[in-house]
Amino acid sequence: MTEPDFLPFCRPTIGDEEIASVVESLKSGWITSGPKVLAFEARFRERLGVPHAVALNSATAGLHVALAALGIGPGDEVITTSLTWPSTLNMVELLGATSVFADVLPGTLMIDPEDVCRRITERTRAVVPVHYAGAPADLDALEAAIASAGRSGDRPIALIEDAAHALGTFYKGQEVGARKHTTVFSFHPIKNITTGEGGMVTTRDAELADRMRTLRFHGVSKDAWSRYGRSASPRYEVIEPGWKYNMLDLQAAIGVEQMKKLERFNGQRAEIAARYAEGLADVPEVRPLERVPYDHVHAWHLYIVRLDLESLSIDRDAFMGELGKLGVGVGLHFTPVHLHRFYAAKYGLEKGDLPHSEAAGEAIFSLPLYPLLTPPMQERVVDAVKQVVAANRKSRAR
Ligand SMILES: Cc1ncc(COP(=O)(O)O)c(C=O)c1O
Repeated sequence: MTEPDFLPFCRPTIGDEEIASVVESLKSGWITSGPKVLAFEARFRERLGVPHAVALNSATAGLHVALAALGIGPGDEVITTSLTWPSTLNMVELLGATSVFADVLPGTLMIDPEDVCRRITERTRAVVPVHYAGAPADLDALEAAIASAGRSGDRPIALIEDAAHALGTFYKGQEVGARKHTTVFSFHPIKNITTGEGGMVTTRDAELADRMRTLRFHGVSKDAWSRYGRSASPRYEVIEPGWKYNMLDLQAAIGVEQMKKLERFNGQRAEIAARYAEGLADVPEVRPLERVPYDHVHAWHLYIVRLDLESLSIDRDAFMGELGKLGVGVGLHFTPVHLHRFYAAKYGLEKGDLPHSEAAGEAIFSLPLYPLLTPPMQERVVDAVKQVVAANRKSRAR
């Protein structure tokens, strides 16, 4: 199969507007953090009705500065899901804190609030749910789990929403990012909007926002724009050691244009998801995830399916390989983090410790889902899935 025949798993939708906006930045003479980043942050504040939005060069950086700004470090525990990209856990580890894994609910693969509740200890400092695939985690139940720990004073338990998949997701009538919690978005090329790479943290906490801004840029009191801009003072001072995590204007130039298209993009994603549901309705071996049982709007970041491995003669990896041979790119979200070498060795976790995350980790994969996926392309995906199922169905007759 030649490359042009390959149907990619993801492809960003970049229009002339994004290109013009980047060219404008390039020609302006200001390409690092500056007016476009400020405009991009303002869009988030306005959209979500929150007072603070902090742009960074990735969601991973956002998780890092959010956890660090909360003062999380050695001796502290952070509870999250194992069915995620390793970012959160890696940032917890790099801060010297302890990762605690809660299992997911078997049908939706969303973090299980009851399991979170069971794992809260005196040392818990944060809970980080992932709004998995673009559906919302059950925030009311997670808030209740945290409240039941009865912690107050100088060691409250923070809820940080990992909304890398969830730009445009709504939970019970409220957009993700609009609640009182700190929320982290990603603009990696596969996401609902992209800036090439990028992230945004939104929060209602002014002190936290200030500290995150300092930490994203060397820990100095001022970024480049405030040092070299028109009314700037060149003096700066390190308040605490920080990272180099600032978003560039070149990235934000793409982001401001992408934000204008978010509703259209998410509408197209929802249509594609509906067509997959229809196209695969008669394929019991390949089931979509269950919908979360509360009022929500799904952002359809990913269309994850689960194989009924009992009825197939090949495993999930081989199934994905067969689709690749047919020229269809697919993704894997995710292999459970607690089974990765570092985490398994450090925490001594084994298969069986998080049964629902592990079972999903063996059986799920993601189909292509992006606005540029046309109905004929999608038919090709569905046909390929059906072909692989037909060729590898276990015969029932014995
Ligand atoms: C659930 C989740 N959290 C965090 C991230 C990290 O995002 P970024 O690549 O912007 O650092 C990802 C990336 O895919 C993700 O899927």
